[in-house]
Amino acid sequence: MHGIPSKTLNDGLEVPAIGFGTANIKGSAGVSIISSAIDTGYRLIDSAFNYENEGAVGAAIRRSSIPREQLRITSKLPGRHHSYKKAVTTIQESLLRAGLDYYDLYLIHWPNPKQEMYVEAWQALIDAKKWGLIRSIGVSNFLPEHLEKIIHETGVTPSMNQVELHPYFSQETQRSYHQEHGIITESWSPLGRASHVLENKDIQSIAQTHDKTIPQIILRWHIQLGALPLPKASSAGRQRENLAVFDFSLSDQEMHTINKLTKPDGRIHDQDPAIYEEF
Ligand SMILES: NC(=O)c1ccc[n+]([C@@H]2O[C@H](COP(=O)([O-])OP(=O)(O)OC[C@H]3O[C@@H](n4cnc5c(N)ncnc54)[C@H](OP(=O)(O)O)[C@@H]3O)[C@@H](O)[C@H]2O)c1
Repeated sequence: MHGIPSKTLNDGLEVPAIGFGTANIKGSAGVSIISSAIDTGYRLIDSAFNYENEGAVGAAIRRSSIPREQLRITSKLPGRHHSYKKAVTTIQESLLRAGLDYYDLYLIHWPNPKQEMYVEAWQALIDAKKWGLIRSIGVSNFLPEHLEKIIHETGVTPSMNQVELHPYFSQETQRSYHQEHGIITESWSPLGRASHVLENKDIQSIAQTHDKTIPQIILRWHIQLGALPLPKASSAGRQRENLAVFDFSLSDQEMHTINKLTKPDGRIHDQDPAIYEEF
């Protein structure tokens, strides 16, 4: 896939080892930014019903000369539509907004455990896959207990789980669970949303050794952890910079230095899926 290594999901779908994040990228300006990302070489595009940008993603796909089958397009089901019936119509609505016949990936955005409806939502995704509306189904922000529940109640294991993951919150336990169950970890806010992690002295020193930038070192760290990062960047320059992470490797010692930066309270906005809800 365009010089970017790929990963194979548990249902056989191949996806690139890095994708493009699109939160807050929407409207006509958003179409230009997403088109630029596709031109730069991104083939996996993350979006969500709640980002209000499925239309912009669809327009960028139509503007691009890349055949549809070479792209991997993701959207996500919002918390207010977890009932089976609403989930099915929301998937249909996502497709209509994007002008697509199918999504490559569709995820449940948040488990919202107090609502206790995510198993119903999962059943809707399972059926939508059977009907050909989605090629691969996954979840986002599911803790091991939520994953256990959907696997136990439906017998279907998600192909991926998109979770908050950056050097200040490295999610070791969650990643081990995914590995044991054949679930790919996708990293949201892989650059810590450009917070102070981009000024970290330890990462800066590793960057100097490799003649790379701090974002490139962080993205390489994700890749060597086995996670699939989804950096968002608005300019073509940063989009290119973030893709140039396949021509060097971090040593075990450098990985260890970055692994040690994690903190129990390292989440950017304290969004613990056990209690945090998003609709
Ligand atoms: N599933 C979920 O619940 C969930 C939650 C949050 C995010 N996500 C997904 O994950 C994606 C990424 O997360 P995110 O957007 O929160 O944060 P992020 O990708 O960690 O960071 C984005 C920020 O980093 C800046 N940036 C990007 N490349 C840079 C570079 N090379 N040098 C310096 N700054 C750089 C961007 O600036 P510019 O844009 O100005 O270039 C932007 O401010 C989202 O877009 C979304 O698709 C999912």
